[in-house]
Amino acid sequence: METSPAVTHDAAAQSLLGRVDELIGGHLLEVERIFHDELKGREPCVRDVFAHVSRFRGKRLRPMLVLLSASAAGGVRPEHLVLGAVVEMIHTATLVHDDVLDEAETRRHVATVNARWNNETSVLFGDYLFTHAFHLASSLDTTHACRLIGRSTNIVCEGELAQVHERGNLDLDEARYLEIIDAKTAELCALCCRLGAHYAGADEQIAAALEQYGRDLGIAFQIADDILDLVGSEAVTGKSLGTDFDLQKLTLPLIRLLKTAADADVLRLRELISHPRGTAAAELRAWLDASDALDFAAARAEEFAATATHRLSALDDSPARKILSDVARFAVCRSC
Ligand code: IPE
Ligand code: IPE
Ligand code: MG
Ligand code: MG
Repeated sequence: METSPAVTHDAAAQSLLGRVDELIGGHLLEVERIFHDELKGREPCVRDVFAHVSRFRGKRLRPMLVLLSASAAGGVRPEHLVLGAVVEMIHTATLVHDDVLDEAETRRHVATVNARWNNETSVLFGDYLFTHAFHLASSLDTTHACRLIGRSTNIVCEGELAQVHERGNLDLDEARYLEIIDAKTAELCALCCRLGAHYAGADEQIAAALEQYGRDLGIAFQIADDILDLVGSEAVTGKSLGTDFDLQKLTLPLIRLLKTAADADVLRLRELISHPRGTAAAELRAWLDASDALDFAAARAEEFAATATHRLSALDDSPARKILSDVARFAVCRSC
């Protein structure tokens, strides 16, 4: 019996998770414990919000990147466990804030904080996550981690601000799009890999190679996410989709569609994107399906994933290196 591509991907993802669990499962559990202890809060209202966002875990990609990079570059140390919790806090903070910006209602299969409470709670709970991340990072012996984390969060914030600023700009090109996703998404993945390498005692060449791996992986991951926002399933991703189009945030498939459409069609497409109401999303989907835009974006994601894997050739062979290379493949063929 033939297996459908979706089933094949799920089986591949399961097998990857099994290998991750075998190699760093115990460390990931310790990261969870640190994450929970740091964030559980004293105020009942804070405890409620934290309990709500903990109801469904995300993929924990960023802690995995810290631990796998550490393992590939010399071995996991106690600092990595703290750093794994720190980067997941920063990631969660950006998601809580992002859901306000995107007016999203569902995240990780449950109501977003803004939908369940309100925007004020989201802004403050996101801040709570950021401040706890820095508080926890400052428990490490050196200021090195805090400095690197501070630099990266500066860049992430600028990326999110740039994205808001570019809303409705129908002339956004691929280079500018890549610049924005590099800042808002890839920067944090790059940081995770550098921190993993640095605290494993790796030399600069290995740390730089892993950082570049994380950056290329992050770009591939965000392009895939942007494709899912247009054609994915809310039931599978567990989050509100279609918000990029609704809020006139141009992503790679739309940039490609606008660039390759015949002059006579560009007017209609610009009109659709400028007024994304009613049947506009369905109409846009038909345009996308009739063009090469989705395939083009998927191919670009695959190129970045391949470059990410190539960066790993600077490292000695190891089970962690093999998993990192499979993570890059997963980043582009995932359904959630
Ligand atoms: C979502 O990240 C935000 C993006 C950068 C696309 P993830 O897809 O890693 O979210 P969780 O942590 O698994 O929920
Ligand atoms: C990623 O962008 C957001 C951050 C890096 C904070 P998206 O807006 O595409 O993320 P999702 O799709 O809501 O998870
Ligand atoms: Mg979003
Ligand atoms: Mg998205």
